Amino acid sequence: MTDVAAVVVERVAALVARLHPQVAGNLDMAARPSEHADAQVNVALGLAKQLGKNPREVAQQLADQLDLSGICTKVEVAGPGFLNLTYDDAHLAKLLKDVAADPRLGLRRAEVAETVVIDYSAPNVAKEMHVGHLRSTVIGDALVRMCEAVGHRVIRENHIGDWGTPFGMLIEHLVDLGEVDAARELSVGDLDGFYKQARAKFEASPEFQERARARVVALQGGDQDTLRLWELLVAQSAHYFATVYEKLDVRLEASDLRGESVYNDLLAKVVERLSAAKLLVTSDGAEVVFPEGFTNRENEPLPLIIRKGDGGYNYATSDLACVIDRVERLHATLMLYVVGSPQAQHLAMIEAVAKAAGWLPPTSRMVHVAFGSVLGNDRKMLKSRTGDSVKLVDLLDEAVQRAAASIAEKNPELPEAQRNAVARMIGIGAVKYSDLSSDRVKDYVFDWERMLSFDGNTAPYLQYAHARICSIFRRANVERTATRTATISLGHASERALALWLLQYDSAVWDALERYSPHRLCTYLYELSTRYTSFYEHCPVLKAESDELRLSRLALCDLTARTLADGLALLGISSPEQM
Ligand code: ARG
Repeated sequence: MTDVAAVVVERVAALVARLHPQVAGNLDMAARPSEHADAQVNVALGLAKQLGKNPREVAQQLADQLDLSGICTKVEVAGPGFLNLTYDDAHLAKLLKDVAADPRLGLRRAEVAETVVIDYSAPNVAKEMHVGHLRSTVIGDALVRMCEAVGHRVIRENHIGDWGTPFGMLIEHLVDLGEVDAARELSVGDLDGFYKQARAKFEASPEFQERARARVVALQGGDQDTLRLWELLVAQSAHYFATVYEKLDVRLEASDLRGESVYNDLLAKVVERLSAAKLLVTSDGAEVVFPEGFTNRENEPLPLIIRKGDGGYNYATSDLACVIDRVERLHATLMLYVVGSPQAQHLAMIEAVAKAAGWLPPTSRMVHVAFGSVLGNDRKMLKSRTGDSVKLVDLLDEAVQRAAASIAEKNPELPEAQRNAVARMIGIGAVKYSDLSSDRVKDYVFDWERMLSFDGNTAPYLQYAHARICSIFRRANVERTATRTATISLGHASERALALWLLQYDSAVWDALERYSPHRLCTYLYELSTRYTSFYEHCPVLKAESDELRLSRLALCDLTARTLADGLALLGISSPEQM
């Protein structure tokens, strides 16, 4: 283990377990950065509460018995019962050497590898992808990358909306347009236009409505020609979604598609099993389940509708089938639903019903990774100038254009081919990072100026810090790998501060992963660049006083650049070497 905080946490946990074996539950063992010391451990506060003792005394007992020789030079009790730690420089230097030699930069693998199903992106067929899908796609992709990095087995599922009553009208509209023209319209990505025209006809014409209804029946009945037309719709949309993923540099392939329709054959089984479990009741002609603890505004029990009065199944039914499939076929131990906050109740009800029916053993957890909305500068839902919801592709194209313009200005010497590639990395990186860097449960304001700025907590700022380090190495004429066995000296306070931060990459990634909160990794990376900037201001690198010091500082530069690039990669963001 090379994470400076994790080493301490391990020791603290062992001591607490030895001294107070009776104390259970979640004690906060973390060793956090502090203004007054290298790290602060607050465990004595919670511990004292449970023991009914004075926290300062509990802290003192821990301080006396905590064996941190060779790790810390000082352990002091402070304030209401904090433990303030000062690390031993020799220990830090040794850990830095180990991290530098490690391609994983100290990132620990999971003790138990889980099978994680990640449900993300999930746009709807024949409907435009909007910023809500951007959030799900970007957050889901970051979680995929983090889970894989620690050694979990990840199964990506793109649960697209490819079934249900709207397909009646969509197929009829397709028939009206003629297959060839319809396919052309859809493949160029005019999904909204297609959907809106269908909707308008549906509203205006009773004759069209009738045809649409008959189509739904034919579709559900498995009529061959109808299915063929439906497949055409799905294929064109899927093709279009793939172009968006490509632009976004997101790991979602055609083979990851697991739309609602996939579960059709399982729906009857869901009903059967719910009925066998005596959970199914008839209410207002529909078959429903009343999961415990859910009520409406009038305080009446809230039903989850499984099968409507007309015999049709629901979004909820396929989500239940989906749980069964993920647990029983895929043996998922963790299921992440990267879905907007408005669906919180829906997913909580799915979980409650699945538990009640015995489909969710304690070894398979279901987690709603919820997120807030994307707002415009007016703090209302982001809208285009025409008042429609913003088309995701337009947004991505604009990001790349804007990035290209700012690079042309900043670095006019960059050859054009390279400039285009870099513009893509910066533009897309900026959009992703602005999404990932705010606490996902909150809404955030989509702000071009801010996200593309080379200052502040933005992707371009981090990418620029990385590129600057790469340029130092070009000027230094030193192989980066040559620095990876150097002995690092920590003479200057800013050198030490940077080193301390570099040694907490593992904790930062794990912290972000355990909370499914990529923004915590962003915060770490931002602080890393800030500390690097201060180091670079105070400590001459290429003009260091001695060759040894120069190599030591180059080693810190190298490790910083690698940590930035690795962290950004976990977020799905590229780090150009020049920009
Ligand atoms: N297609 C849905 C939407 O656009 C999201 C599906 C989320 N996943 C799920 N298993 N329900 O809102």
